[in-house]
Amino acid sequence: AEVHYHNFVVQATPVKRLCKTHKIITVNGQFPGPTLEVRNGDTLVINVVNQAKYNITLHWHGVRQLRTAWADGPSYVTQCPILPGGSYTYRFTIEDQEGTLWWHAHTSWLRATVYGALIIHPKEGSSYPFPKPQREVPIIIGEWWNTNPQTVLRTSMITGAAPNISDAFTINGQPGDLYNCSSSKETITIPVAAGETILLRFINAAMNIENFIAIAGHKMTVVSADASYTKPFTTTVLMMTPGQTTDVLVTMDQQPGRYYIAAQAYASAQGVPFDNTTTTAIIEYNGQPSTKGQGLLPKLPTLPAFNDTATATAFTAGIRSPSKVKLPEPVDEHLFFTVGLGLYNCKPNQICGGPNGTRFGASMNNVSFVMPRRLSILQAYFFGNPKVYTIDFPAFPPVQFDYTGNNISRALWQPVQGTRVYKLKYGSVVQLVMQGTNIFAGEDHPMHLHGYHFYVLAEGFGNFNAATDTAKFNLVDPPSRNTIGVPVNGWAVIRFVADNPGAWLMHCHLDNHLTWGLAMVFLVENGVGELQTLEPPPPDLPRC
Ligand code: C2O
Repeated sequence: AEVHYHNFVVQATPVKRLCKTHKIITVNGQFPGPTLEVRNGDTLVINVVNQAKYNITLHWHGVRQLRTAWADGPSYVTQCPILPGGSYTYRFTIEDQEGTLWWHAHTSWLRATVYGALIIHPKEGSSYPFPKPQREVPIIIGEWWNTNPQTVLRTSMITGAAPNISDAFTINGQPGDLYNCSSSKETITIPVAAGETILLRFINAAMNIENFIAIAGHKMTVVSADASYTKPFTTTVLMMTPGQTTDVLVTMDQQPGRYYIAAQAYASAQGVPFDNTTTTAIIEYNGQPSTKGQGLLPKLPTLPAFNDTATATAFTAGIRSPSKVKLPEPVDEHLFFTVGLGLYNCKPNQICGGPNGTRFGASMNNVSFVMPRRLSILQAYFFGNPKVYTIDFPAFPPVQFDYTGNNISRALWQPVQGTRVYKLKYGSVVQLVMQGTNIFAGEDHPMHLHGYHFYVLAEGFGNFNAATDTAKFNLVDPPSRNTIGVPVNGWAVIRFVADNPGAWLMHCHLDNHLTWGLAMVFLVENGVGELQTLEPPPPDLPRC
């Protein structure tokens, strides 16, 4: 196994998109940031130097970080942020993971522009469980604002309203040529040869919306999701939530020409404004005339309607593990967490830009997560500072009712704020039902768990009913993932073994929801012996 050293300089860089130049935060001046390419078993040592004017941390999304929670990155959960002028070295080893992951900033809304691919090839001497593709290309979906995303966030925090929708989606940092004022120069082109098979590594790095993705004229065979191989299946459309990755094989079996890869919104909430634009990249067969003449324009794929929940959920349900899974059992912890938006009554002198003079909030089991400010949860746990968090995150909702009904009284459900964690014993088997709610609006919530993979046993609509829904669990070949979209007004059930000590954030990967408090933390205690114990913190771990 190899050790890969990288220097990541976080800095403000002028970038022009949609005819406007503004300074965005980048790593090494690149947008998207550098692609990290390693093999399973390798170690990464990434020295992050903060030359920007914002506090920052980086997160290696989906990396298990076994015993190295200090390198996970969410600010105030595993570390204090790297202050302007400061630096911190993230050091971690990839243990038994292969496929596509990614990295992104994990402080306020900096991940809007600070992200990149993390590609994990099979170990030296081993190979993919599918024919080796002739070409591999990472495809990162992003979301672009014509103004500073930090300002978009700050405005929404002050007003309590929903943040402005984005001005464009992007593919590998480029909006593509369907936008006003965008051109073929701002379109990613992927050259291909007729007949070859390529591996596209899709990463959804969008901020506040899920996406449908399709390629004109070409079918895709899904082979991996969230760096876990899947039973291959063929599809014409992908649905990806922010945080998810999907690897697909595509054979160039069409008439030589130009074909768009296109992505647009899957907007599961009703009547809520969203960015309804389309981003594109071009697959170009070799030997195409270099100027676009009549008839040479790329072909557009047909994408599902923005609210096509049936297609979205059918796609997700099609993802299975390649063979029979040995599920961890018996279950030690049966947990039930609601996930959803809510509305706060305003305090005097607050601006209330939300519906009917309220402010937006979000919660899990009625607790709206508050980030600590003085010390990270992991540091507080390790050094024994009991004032930073409390260990009373509830295992069940405080009241039961029809979570997905249309007329939920807000009086039933006024979120409380707190930095509450749920403690888990090393090695306990956790089964967690996540139930979407419909307080303000029902919406998909792409829930991401740091430090773990989990099996997705089932998903469904309406209120989870243990008596009847348990029979729907897939105990044979459930997929192993790190992010699952809890369906709009529905539920998802996951299972994992708490075999990685540390403080692990679980949150909605729609950043506006995370900002509103749709998060909680699992505090997993050390087990016995070195292999079950968190390593000591690195000497350069930032102090608050
Ligand atoms: Cu992709 Cu908490 O992160």
